[in-house]
Amino acid sequence: MTVHFIGAGPGAPDLLTLRGRDLIAACPVCLYAGSLVPEAVLAHCPPGARIVNTAPMDLDAIIAEIRTAHARGHDVARLHSGDLSVWSAMGEQLRRLRAEGIPVSVTPGVPSFAAAAAALGTELTLPGLAQSVVLTRTPGRASSMPEGETLANFAATGATLAIHLSIQNLASVVEDLAPAYGPDCPVAIVFRASWPDQRILRGTLADIEAQLDAGITRTALILVGPALAGEGFDESCLYAAAYDRRYRPQSAESPWAGWTPESEAQDG
Ligand SMILES: C[S@@+](CC[C@H](N)C(=O)[O-])C[C@H]1O[C@@H](n2cnc3c(N)ncnc32)[C@H](O)[C@@H]1O
Repeated sequence: MTVHFIGAGPGAPDLLTLRGRDLIAACPVCLYAGSLVPEAVLAHCPPGARIVNTAPMDLDAIIAEIRTAHARGHDVARLHSGDLSVWSAMGEQLRRLRAEGIPVSVTPGVPSFAAAAAALGTELTLPGLAQSVVLTRTPGRASSMPEGETLANFAATGATLAIHLSIQNLASVVEDLAPAYGPDCPVAIVFRASWPDQRILRGTLADIEAQLDAGITRTALILVGPALAGEGFDESCLYAAAYDRRYRPQSAESPWAGWTPESEAQDG
């Protein structure tokens, strides 16, 4: 018996890995975080599966549900939205299950920041503009931030910021970021990326607040940084014609001359 933690993706039911789909189909028990996991993903559960929405449950009740499945020898598919590596509450469940000796596996999912970037048709790391993406949030009712993880500190790097769980704090986000990025810095808000009612707002730190309306609540990402402009960046060296590299040696003197994937494999 194993508890399979599975990233259920950002919303569109077909943004689920094949491994995740197959595990869901093989598990007689499915626990899903109903606040964000799309019901359509549950269609992969086998007939007669026990399907439990954990949104109204506390951690003790969730672990008790898994303990019961364990006693019966039933595998569990445990679904959380997006990917499990960020804001999934997987960590606290893993800790309890490992302490009880219950086997687990983890299958990644498409994170919401990637779905939002796809909706924008944008690369978040554009040469010369930004080479880092910071996945962060602002403090909420249930979560404080560790000292040092402030928006002002992240803004000082100039990186692209993907700010989760914060649409209700947009005013303070703008206030914290404007000194480092400037009022003209591009901002995009993506609401329910990949869902049928997805919406996109584009603006700058100066005007994004005025664009926000009451229809955009909770499931939204705020993306900030010069890369959001999608212009004014350099081409990468990777595909530059004169760039000497393993796959495209430029001369007989190149350290890569004569290199083939097979020769590297032989070299170990
Ligand atoms: C509890 S976190 C879950 C994050 C998730 N584990 C992930 O990989 O993206 C919920 C927050 O993620 C963001 N989010 C999740 N799904 C989203 C979507 N489809 N579109 C935009 N933002 C989303 C929002 O900022 C939301 O407040």
